[in-house]
Amino acid sequence: ASGLHGLDASQLKIIRKGGEPTPLPPLDTLVFGRTFSDHMLDVDWDVNEGWRAPVIRPFQNLSIHPAASSLHYALQCFDGMKAYKDDSGRIRMFRPDMNARRLLLSSQRLGLPSFDELQLVECIKALLSVDSSQVPQKDGYSMYIRPTSIATQPTLGVGPPSQTKLFVILSPVGPYYPTGFKPVQLLADTHYIRAWPGGTGDRKVGANYGPTILPQTLGAKKGYSQMLWLFPEGDDYRLTEVGTMNLFILWKNEQGEKELVTEPLGDLILPGVTRDSIIKLAQKMHDIKVSERPVYMKKDFLKAVAEKRILEVFGAGTAAVVSPVDRIGFDGVDYPIPVDPDNPSAGIGPLAKKLLKELNDIQYGRVPHEWSWLV
Ligand code: COI
Repeated sequence: ASGLHGLDASQLKIIRKGGEPTPLPPLDTLVFGRTFSDHMLDVDWDVNEGWRAPVIRPFQNLSIHPAASSLHYALQCFDGMKAYKDDSGRIRMFRPDMNARRLLLSSQRLGLPSFDELQLVECIKALLSVDSSQVPQKDGYSMYIRPTSIATQPTLGVGPPSQTKLFVILSPVGPYYPTGFKPVQLLADTHYIRAWPGGTGDRKVGANYGPTILPQTLGAKKGYSQMLWLFPEGDDYRLTEVGTMNLFILWKNEQGEKELVTEPLGDLILPGVTRDSIIKLAQKMHDIKVSERPVYMKKDFLKAVAEKRILEVFGAGTAAVVSPVDRIGFDGVDYPIPVDPDNPSAGIGPLAKKLLKELNDIQYGRVPHEWSWLV
């Protein structure tokens, strides 16, 4: 690959929309991923030249050849992270190195071009600066950042892409639960499987998400809001993810210890940045043990439900941050899950609430932390 240009933020060109920035709509009307900022980042790559100069330009439709393999063979990956405005009006990204690194790994899995992760972060910082007036400044609000890499070469051959585009769009977003936390109900279905050994479940490729919509729709018809993704092993099932989030269980384990457990990294789960952050924050709390180990539906989870050892179950991801669970359906039976035994109307359990506050304090720059990067 000698002689090819690497992704280079110092080559960035900025073409501004002109005029005043579009004002943000009333914040309480924001719906996740429906409103976009005035500009986008766009970087083309081709096999002969490497990365072209990155361009920030007015937000606009893409023009794409109908044979582009992103449209046919799912040669597409993406990531999701957030930027926050602190009390002094400065913009802060949360662990952007982790998301840029994950986009790189997702790209490599699909034969999409590699890049220097920190160069991508620099380009995103520049984009956030251009659209800084559109980053909401309010607790619970942020700018959702969606980097995406697609194959664009105009041929139907199934092979490594020779032309690609990396683009980044920004969406101002509000709290996932604007009127307070509402626990979700999960369907643990044994038929549909999200990820398997040797598959792409540990990468953020669009092809992992599209096929989840049918099972989720079928679950919704039965009154469940999300899927609890199971992976069959022997005559039991590992609890892997919930909807588009990682899964955490707080329980009294069989040794009587208070333990926060989540599926270990591997092919079956996405390596979530929120997941990693929660593990590291919980490891600093001295009253709980933190474990990355498989939890099996029948021999571990349902046993703990029957013995009333479950304390909290929640999903964790960038979009919702934490999402408490109050009911799980498995094999035709509904199992109620406690949310907060001391405060049944809280909508969120004490540990999830504490973790959310610690995360928010770092994200909004209320406590200094190396995870918060000033733009
Ligand atoms: C998450 O942040 O939980 C996601 O995976 C985002 C989703 C819109 C794909």
